[in-house]
Amino acid sequence: MTSVIDNVDYGPLAQLLGKWVGNKGLDNAPDADANPDMTDFTDEMTFTVAGPAENAEEQNVVSIRYHHVVRKIENGHIFHDQIGHWIYEKSTNIIMHSLSIPRAVCLLAGGKYHEEDGASIFNVEAKAGSETYGIVQSPFMLEKAKTKAFKMNLSVKNNELNYHEVTSLHIYGKDFEHIDRSTLNRVIYDQD
Ligand code: HEM
Repeated sequence: MTSVIDNVDYGPLAQLLGKWVGNKGLDNAPDADANPDMTDFTDEMTFTVAGPAENAEEQNVVSIRYHHVVRKIENGHIFHDQIGHWIYEKSTNIIMHSLSIPRAVCLLAGGKYHEEDGASIFNVEAKAGSETYGIVQSPFMLEKAKTKAFKMNLSVKNNELNYHEVTSLHIYGKDFEHIDRSTLNRVIYDQD
């Protein structure tokens, strides 16, 4: 698989391109009563090229666009939708992930790309209050369902993708680790 598309070298991001699907998702979401809500879900992730960018005539990054749709296995209804970019800087090996979810929460998470046992590892994290890899959220969410931190471990080996996301919340008067994980397989390899 080439990492150069239209004369742009997407580096490790090229391995994410295409459409991935899975039916092995598990969500651990907060609930007003003491028991967390566990829900099985299906995933669809689509990654498409978004071109290069030069920042302040100094930093060169490349990025791909990302859309993640999650449906309850039980009824096929969408219960999570996430969009954003994955951004890579070759000279430092830095990976950044911007994401927005339709509860009025956006964040920029960062980390370093590395490889392990033949797998490509994209691990990123963000913390509320950081001026760099931080989180912004609506006044309501800040008061009632604050996202304090976010960590995503995403790994790809051949045509299998695994992710594990921990979203640290403060909701219903206490801290809660909202955890989502899944395994997907690539069904379409598409460079555009
Ligand atoms: C596969 C990924 C995810 C799934 C399937 C998922 C699903 C859910 C579900 C089912 C709830 C409970 C909603 C309810 O109370 O009825 C929830 C709550 C919440 N999620 Fe997620 N979520 C995901 C990722 C994220 C991410 C990445 C963030 C933030 C960066 C996030 C932020 C929140 C917040 C703030 C709440 C609390 C809102 C509330 O329950 O009132 N989630 N999520």
